[in-house]
Amino acid sequence: MAPLPVAPRAAAQMAGALLVDTHTHLTDRRYADDLSAVMGRAREAGLVAMVVVGYDIASSEAAVRVAAQHPDVWATVGIHPHHATSVNAGAMKRLEQLAAEPRVVGIGECGLDFYRNLSPAARQREAFAAQLDLAAARGLPVVVHSREAMPATLDLLARRRPPRGVMHCFDGTATDALASVALGLYISCAGPLTYRKDTTLAHAIAAVPDERIIVETDCPYLSPAGHRGERNEPAHVQLVAEAAARARDVGFEEMAHQTTRNAVRLFDLPGVLEESSGAAAARTGPAA
Ligand code: NI
Repeated sequence: MAPLPVAPRAAAQMAGALLVDTHTHLTDRRYADDLSAVMGRAREAGLVAMVVVGYDIASSEAAVRVAAQHPDVWATVGIHPHHATSVNAGAMKRLEQLAAEPRVVGIGECGLDFYRNLSPAARQREAFAAQLDLAAARGLPVVVHSREAMPATLDLLARRRPPRGVMHCFDGTATDALASVALGLYISCAGPLTYRKDTTLAHAIAAVPDERIIVETDCPYLSPAGHRGERNEPAHVQLVAEAAARARDVGFEEMAHQTTRNAVRLFDLPGVLEESSGAAAARTGPAA
């Protein structure tokens, strides 16, 4: 697909806006050689926080390690539905320990994936329920992966009631979005919003209340329009925010501001907005 042209005005607006990438996999081996350059580009693009998401025990441990090394990086710990068969008492015990680490701000990603079905559905439900219970016990938000499984996902959320959470890479209808919001979830926009031709997703994103919308890259996956086929990276969350702004018919800066405030509230990220107002002033300084 041809790159999506970014109007010069939009590019200028992007320069000073503060953003949070709420879902990254910076521990992926594809960043092994140039993680500091990737993070540098993210900071230049206005990112004030990045959340590194675990998907099994090893990646959760790695997420905790990378968060410990960078003041603008936080971690979540969890086991993806693809790995649901690895969830047992020992794995849950280890997740519990990791969840107590100081820079861990959520449980996940966890959930249900009835599209790829890499684990049996019953095991996926058990693994998801166990992690929802852990989130509730720790008072942490849950990062939910749901693919071709919205009714079952909403059903488990309604029964286990985690304190709050996010439908990561939301890909449903407006009805699904509002049902998720009613259960205390935030709705996270990702790359598909930049290239989806069908308007269902854009309509769903438009229906989300202002205080529940956030943005993510899910990097290295889901590169937005203009970068498809490439490794994705947090700096591209700008393009997701731009697509969200278009879907919701608001300005880019307003979208950036709203999603950043929401992400800080959802994950309870300490100090991000206080520090970032100074960073924004410095960045826009003499040129503005
Ligand atoms: Ni992910």
